This record gives sequence, structure tokens and C-alpha cells, in this order.
Amino acid sequence: MATPKSKQKNPQPLYCNNDHYFMALDTYYQHTRHQETLAKWIEEEFESYVVKVLSEKFGDKLDDQPLRVLGVGSSEGNLETLQLEKLKTKFSRISTTIIEPNTKLSKYQEMVRQKSSDITGIEYIWHNQTFQEFVTSMEAGQKYHFITIVHAMYYLGEVEETVQTFYELLEPGGMIFMVIQADYYGISLLWKTFPQLAVEQQTPATTTEPQKIKTNCLITSTDVKSVLSKYQMAYTQSSYTVSSDLTTCFTQDEMTPVTKLLLDFITMTVDFLESVSDETVNQVMDLIKRNTRVKKGDQGGDKYYFDNKGDILVISK
Ligand SMILES: C[S@@+](CC[C@H](N)C(=O)[O-])C[C@H]1O[C@@H](n2cnc3c(N)ncnc32)[C@H](O)[C@@H]1O
Repeated sequence: MATPKSKQKNPQPLYCNNDHYFMALDTYYQHTRHQETLAKWIEEEFESYVVKVLSEKFGDKLDDQPLRVLGVGSSEGNLETLQLEKLKTKFSRISTTIIEPNTKLSKYQEMVRQKSSDITGIEYIWHNQTFQEFVTSMEAGQKYHFITIVHAMYYLGEVEETVQTFYELLEPGGMIFMVIQADYYGISLLWKTFPQLAVEQQTPATTTEPQKIKTNCLITSTDVKSVLSKYQMAYTQSSYTVSSDLTTCFTQDEMTPVTKLLLDFITMTVDFLESVSDETVNQVMDLIKRNTRVKKGDQGGDKYYFDNKGDILVISK
């Protein structure tokens, strides 16, 4: 049988198509309630894991200097704002440096403008560039008390070098809050089984030159933890799980547009179903199906949930 025309196209990695990447990412975040899940963790745990410790270390030592915060891959800033609000309960002055190469930065700036009357005592320093560009151009000796990196480690280059750079940028007594994909679970299990889908892709478009650093979705918390152990950097670990409802993949001839976008995100491929060979689609869908949690739905039929796990590493210097 002749291969359909659409199957002859080269699959496009999600990261090469900025608009489709953010459409799929936003769909995944909304559908799985990913941001709400992390927001809940920040609401309930951030105080004891981070704020209390930083306050004991620096609370009475800053004089009239601000607490210096660095956000990397901040996007629209929703999760960072929650962290800053928590830090603000103990530190009257905060100076936060935001690094985000994408145009999403303007949404963060707009949110800060709108909230300006509520956010007193926080100074924002914006960098519409990559972390790699920032490091190359930053003032020598600049240090931060707190660094936050939520699901951005995949774009920053070689893990050991990146973790060491973050550690060097940290004041003694400072902390890093890192959220990253857990190993061999859900999405990372899929990516590790089909590495051609997830590795060595271009980073999202930046404002300046095309990036030489490649995205590597195969980076997980295991890679970071092995660097932390190697250099005896202290850390704590928590985890969270989110679920994608992929029922229409297995029970209906036509998938919903939302399910298609979820699949694009999970497989890191633009129009996964149309652009990848039938053989790969079948293998990927088979792996997903074998790793779904099946539950009886309210209306009777089976529901298929594909769970994914993230790790929250809090690193201390
Ligand atoms: C998966 S999103 C996470 C966004 C945000 N931290 C959150 O959790 O909502 C990854 C972010 O990293 C940004 N990013 C990509 N490459 C980067 C780089 N080289 N340096 C800094 N940020 C980068 C992307 O533009 C994107 O906003």
C-alpha cells in the first residue's frame, strides 16, 4: 500500500515551531492542571522548604539590601510570582532578575504592571534572552540568594556545567528551587524509549541569534541528582503527579483536538499523528496504552489516564 502523502513529511520537532510548542504546552498545562498542582505545592510547602531557611540564613543580615532572586525560563511568571509573594512575607525588599527568551516575557511584564500596587518592595530586572546569553554578558561576581528554574533545565545545555554555574551564582547559604521531569515515568519513559522524538532539537526561537545549544528532553532529575551527589551539594526532593486523559485515543475513531495537542506535547512532535510513520505511531500509542491507568468513567465506559511525574529539588549551598 502506498504511504499517504502526509506520512512522507519529515516530522517537525515541537521546539522548532514556537507557536505550536506553546499551544501544546499550554493545552497540556491546562488539561493536566499542572500549574495548579505546582501552585498548591508552593502554597503548602514552599514556606518550610525555602522561606524559613532563607529567612534564618539572611533575615537579619541583609541590612537594607534586597534579597536577590534569579528566575530562569520564567515564561509568564505565574509560578514565580507565587514564590516571590511567599518570600515577600519575610523579606521587605527583593530584587528579581528574570531571564526569558520568548515573547511570553511581555505577559509577565504586563502582569507585574497590572499588579504594581500590590507588589511593593519588588524590583524587576528583565532579560529577554537565554540563560546562556545572560551568563556570557553578566557582571563578574554577581550572586543570588535564591534561584528558581521550573521545567527549563532541558534548554540550558550540558547538565553538569549548568548545575555548577547555578551553584557558582548562589550566595553561600542560598537556595535553588528546581522543578524537572522525573526519570522513567510517563513522558520520560516514552522519550527514553523513542529518543528520536525528544533529543537534540533546537531551542525555541530567541530574540537574538539562532541557538547553538540543543534542547534535550531526556534530561531528568536523575541527571541533576548525580551531579549534586558528585559535588556533595545538599538537596531535598519532593514529587508531584499529573494526569492526561487520553481516553479518546483508545475509544473513538476521531480524537478530539485537545487530545491531539496533548499527544503533540507528550511526543514533542508537531502534528504527531499526521507527520510520523504509521509504524512509529502504533509503537508509541502501544507504549502509552500499556502505561495508562484505566478507571471506570462516570458514564460507564473506561477512562485512560497517562500519568506523569515531576520532581522538585531544593538545593542548598
Ligand atoms: C516548559 S516552559 C516552563 C515555563 C515556566 N517556568 C513555567 O513553569 O510555567 C520552559 C521555558 O523556558 C524558556 N527557555 C527556553 N530556552 C531557554 C534558555 N536557553 N534560557 C532560558 N530560558 C529558556 C522557554 O521560553 C519557556 O518559557
